[in-house]
Amino acid sequence: MPRRPYMRRWCVVVVAVLTAGEEQQCKEALFAIHWTHIPKAGGTAMANLARRVACGQNPGLARVGPEKMEIATHEAGWLNPCCVPSLCLSEISCFASSSTCPFVQGIGRHTSSMTQLVDMACCSREWYDRTGVSFYRSAFRPAPSDSDLELAGIWREGDAWKASTARAQGLLSRLRSHLSWPMESRVAFFARMGVTLAELDARADETGLYARDVISRPRVAQIWHNFTTTTTTSRPAGTPPDDDTRGPMRRATDNMGACHRAAQAIHAEAVDEQIFAAAAAAKATTTTTTTQGRRRPPMPLNQARRSRPCCGAQSPGANSMTLFRMPFTRLASAYYYRGHSPNSDNYNLRPGVFRPAVPRKGDDTPYARFSFRDFVELPEYQNIFVKLFGDSHGCRDARRCDRRPACAVLAECHAYRNATLEDRHLVAAFKAIERHAFVGLLEAYNASTKLAMRVFGLEPAPDGRDFEAARSSYSLERQCSGALALRLDPHACRGAFFHNALDFRLYEKVHRLFCARLGLSGLLDEDPEVRAELRKADLCGEHDFSDVDFVCGRLARDKAKLDRLWRVCPPRNTRTWAWGFGDDDDGG
Ligand SMILES: *[C@@H]1O[C@H](CO)[C@@H](O)[C@H](O)[C@H]1NC(C)=O
Ligand SMILES: *[C@@H]1O[C@H](CO)[C@@H](O)[C@H](O)[C@H]1NC(C)=O
Ligand SMILES: *[C@@H]1O[C@H](CO)[C@@H](O)[C@H](O)[C@H]1NC(C)=O
Repeated sequence: MPRRPYMRRWCVVVVAVLTAGEEQQCKEALFAIHWTHIPKAGGTAMANLARRVACGQNPGLARVGPEKMEIATHEAGWLNPCCVPSLCLSEISCFASSSTCPFVQGIGRHTSSMTQLVDMACCSREWYDRTGVSFYRSAFRPAPSDSDLELAGIWREGDAWKASTARAQGLLSRLRSHLSWPMESRVAFFARMGVTLAELDARADETGLYARDVISRPRVAQIWHNFTTTTTTSRPAGTPPDDDTRGPMRRATDNMGACHRAAQAIHAEAVDEQIFAAAAAAKATTTTTTTQGRRRPPMPLNQARRSRPCCGAQSPGANSMTLFRMPFTRLASAYYYRGHSPNSDNYNLRPGVFRPAVPRKGDDTPYARFSFRDFVELPEYQNIFVKLFGDSHGCRDARRCDRRPACAVLAECHAYRNATLEDRHLVAAFKAIERHAFVGLLEAYNASTKLAMRVFGLEPAPDGRDFEAARSSYSLERQCSGALALRLDPHACRGAFFHNALDFRLYEKVHRLFCARLGLSGLLDEDPEVRAELRKADLCGEHDFSDVDFVCGRLARDKAKLDRLWRVCPPRNTRTWAWGFGDDDDGG
């Protein structure tokens, strides 16, 4: 039969075209970043790099195509807010996902969820739909008006606006955001992200965008029609039509839950590495599931594959990034930093005992002062790396979500909490970290940045801002800096080590992983600056960061510096740690 092979070839072609279409669709899927912000590890600077990754990995959203240039945009034509440098949409915080970039998870929050290794790789779109509302609300409203500015104490001097209070600074950044990311770009962006015209219209009415003549109703409609995706994207299989009665939030929650279940089934081996999964599974088989309606059994694998055809092609952790720092310097920095110690607590860890970072009205509690020694002895602040990466399911809030998919996706645990940690948590933590597409070290910030650029195919920003490791630290610049003295103190170091041994062991392993990846990327061979930076920080050589005699012993090199600080500075600045480990006890 002459026709048969021909038919077969034709079938192969059809299948190939279909899979190519699917692959294309998978490539164009939204890419959101699973970002774990370790407190006081340089994460704020690195979060800006994560924003740039969320720009580069979403090419379909990055720029307005030439045929659609008829809208006002930032000079570079960015649609995607993550592409706009220093964007800040909120007057309250410029260090949050909801005010800067809706495709990077949890900027500034210091919580973690290793479930996201899998969920973010497979369900970025669903995650955005579920969480993007707060960003939308910050972005889709007018700039502060002249009278808002006046009321907040903002005035104009020549060409420049001046402000004297924190709130006024916030309003000013919101005002500037309208120059860097104009309203027309915003309409185009939200249209592309699937917000309906009716929703945009209603919100524009509500916030006074029309009344204040920021943009007109016909203009919004025009832009929306050019940029909307609602007619072209196919709904994932099994999702009900848009006009059902559950409302967009409810729909987003259900889609997220369904995606989570499918992703967990498809990448079961990555999920099982997390000890929480084993614990949860054991619990699920021993307790007969008291069906509370919302609890669901795991999804059968073939059903999962059918419902999320792209998920299997993603590797868990492909969207994950984080930055580490040597535990002792991190602790010394946290101790002196607003919000991160019992002398200034942002997280309400022990009400009435730890002094709140923002004093409550009428609070006359006589808060005790905690020394550095007290600080490192407090369980809430110990071994936070292992908590964040190896026990991210250990807190009550996360456990409450066991087997409730829609809730499990957003459940996170904070770095500062009590936890019972063992070696198996260290093992789980390292497995999770190995899955991360990118892990950097603050001690090698430039090398880390270069590595991230190779991993995610980014070019350095022309102004060099990628290599600014940190906000400048006031406390380190002062001549008699407590943080500086602390970082040089071998006794304080040994104490910190004693109470954070798991974190030091993890840091040693993470740093070896980092060195190996630098080697694989070619950076070690090619870039003398990278090698110099590593040498200076004692990284990637014979030194072992899980060995207290090395970590703290090397501080002896700087003994003269510490002695000088002790001599010239008031004890109140330099001796608040008053330790007592080691042999020349200072008696404190
Ligand atoms: C919409 O697109 C068409 C062509 O694709 C273009 O001519 C028109 O200027 C665009 N309008 C807006 C508001 O972007
Ligand atoms: C942690 O445990 C200590 C007791 O060891 C307790 O006093 C403290 O309140 C606990 N902290 C939190 C945040 O639960
Ligand atoms: C990191 O890069 C910046 C910008 O190129 C440079 O100024 C700085 O000296 C570099 N730091 C190290 C340790 O190489």
